[in-house]
Amino acid sequence: MTQPRIKVLVIGAAFSADLHMEGYQRCSDLARVVGICDMQPDRIDALASRYRLEDYTKYSSYERAIAESGCDVVDICLPNFLHHPVALCAFRHGKHVVCEKPLAITAAQAQDMTEAAKAAEKCLYYAEDWLFAPAVVRALEIVREGAIGDLLFIRAREAHSGSHSPFAQTIAGCGGGCMIHLGIHPVGLALALGDNRWTCVTADVTGGMERNLVHKAMEGEDWASCSMSFENGIRAVVEANYVTVGGMEDVIDFYGTKGCLHVDLDFSSAVRCFSIPGVSYTIEKAEITTGWSSPAVDEKYNLGYVGEIRHFMERASAGRDAMPGLRGIDGLECMRAVEAIYAAAKAGTAVKNPNL
Ligand SMILES: NC(=O)c1ccc[n+]([C@@H]2O[C@H](COP(=O)([O-])OP(=O)(O)OC[C@H]3O[C@@H](n4cnc5c(N)ncnc54)[C@H](O)[C@@H]3O)[C@@H](O)[C@H]2O)c1
Repeated sequence: MTQPRIKVLVIGAAFSADLHMEGYQRCSDLARVVGICDMQPDRIDALASRYRLEDYTKYSSYERAIAESGCDVVDICLPNFLHHPVALCAFRHGKHVVCEKPLAITAAQAQDMTEAAKAAEKCLYYAEDWLFAPAVVRALEIVREGAIGDLLFIRAREAHSGSHSPFAQTIAGCGGGCMIHLGIHPVGLALALGDNRWTCVTADVTGGMERNLVHKAMEGEDWASCSMSFENGIRAVVEANYVTVGGMEDVIDFYGTKGCLHVDLDFSSAVRCFSIPGVSYTIEKAEITTGWSSPAVDEKYNLGYVGEIRHFMERASAGRDAMPGLRGIDGLECMRAVEAIYAAAKAGTAVKNPNL
């Protein structure tokens, strides 16, 4: 007997919703989108028509959408400051929740969300796409088979020229700057490798507004780096910035006692193109596409969005939590680490993990 498909309500119909919709389109055997909610109805129309979605309901209020859509899963693709209230509303109505990164704008909010999931006996899935990027999955297989010996440290960064989203300009909307917004991907990867057991962080950030390198009107920092140590001996050097032009960089280097491994998620396309008029799209955040470029091949798959949605839908069908790195608790640990990184940068000294 075929299982009934999971019914999904997508809340927020812009950039990240588009990434997730690709995932739903490719796991239509498991799930179907029954509703889309956004304050801007034209965005819902555009998203639905891009994915040829017809049998769904449009909502402008997330409370109404959660109460009335009959969904099993609420997928939160909203600005960071809305993750907490929308997740709590979803758990009150007995839904599973997929939540974009960062889980919330503070660790306290993130903790609230994990507790609400537990009380409702529902799952909170933390959408960290890096862990599903096929190149990262392959790299981790190579590391785990011992091909580079014992893992010593990773160096990882996400960087581009700045978020398109207005909420990312304020601390109240976003929770910080590029570290919480971009750096949370490499932080999440490092935490997954270190079983969430970081012992100590040191950090440096530009500090926002006039102290920033480029984005002088942005409240959060536009450049950040940190060093993390883990109980299992691994170290991680993480960088995030909004000052990188030429397209998004998602780069990870792994160093072990018997080898090393380099992963480049954005610039590793097998296609090389020279164009005088320019290509309509090459890679995320590329400002120009003329001259030589490496247009991405199946970018949403290669950045992990397709894999993460399938994983969450498989787990939701079985009423099971996600694998490590993608559970609510992992999103909470990312928030705790990010807060420690900001505290270390502010104090100018190392911050130890108070929970170890
Ligand atoms: N995993 C990734 O690589 C990745 C990439 C981009 C964004 N994100 C995350 O996804 C989330 C959303 O980011 P985005 O770039 O899609 O933002 P966005 O600004 O492009 O879109 C947010 C959408 O939410 C809608 N909205 C705002 N308030 C609302 C409300 N109260 N009710 C209904 N709709 C409302 C807006 O109209 C807008 O369409 C953020 O948490 C961000 O960090 C993750």
